[in-house]
Amino acid sequence: MSVWAVLAAAGSGERLGADRPKAFVRLGERPLLAESLERLEASGWIDAIVVVAPPGWEEPAILLAEELGCGKVSACVAGGATRADSVRHGLAEVADDAAVVLVHDAARPLLGDAVVGRVLAALNEGWDGAVPALPVSDTLKRVEGERVVETLDRTQLRAVQTPQAFLASVLRDAFSGGAADATDCSFLVEARGGRVKVIGCS
Ligand code: C5P
Repeated sequence: MSVWAVLAAAGSGERLGADRPKAFVRLGERPLLAESLERLEASGWIDAIVVVAPPGWEEPAILLAEELGCGKVSACVAGGATRADSVRHGLAEVADDAAVVLVHDAARPLLGDAVVGRVLAALNEGWDGAVPALPVSDTLKRVEGERVVETLDRTQLRAVQTPQAFLASVLRDAFSGGAADATDCSFLVEARGGRVKVIGCS
């Protein structure tokens, strides 16, 4: 079973207010991107990696991958206007015979190999996809403008993160339509009736 990783690193980092895209903001001595790139490279679960870089930052991303000795990096492409567009660009570079695609946000540098193993294990159990999730500890309200409309039952809610793993065919199908505003890949898979398992984050 070949497992490809798509590393979404094309965000502008606008909220961060830095002078460069978030993936290239320094974390210690290195760009943030280095951390997840190195971890995916070292993971025994991952066969190949596609990096989705901010437009105009493809070359620095390739150089970084070379510096880190990331031989699994198969392609580096420019991202799009939204995360979903960026993942779509990355997915186009995944080999046709890939069985599984794992999508990870470079904005989450502390990628754990145990979590990678667990989202992939869910696919062997027959799920279409798997996502790591945390219980929500804040009280969540639905609002309209300034007015609180409803308090949600947080016991039924989860904060979902990456890495998210999917059968390659399921993910390709999910991305074949529109929905540029999807904030994660699972949303698109769910929308097509895909069965996605929630696993713990630690
Ligand atoms: O902005 P947001 O928090 O949704 O970003 C999540 C991840 O998606 C980040 O790793 C970011 O680099 C990536 N992203 C992207 N292309 C975009 C927007 C975000 O690859 N256009």
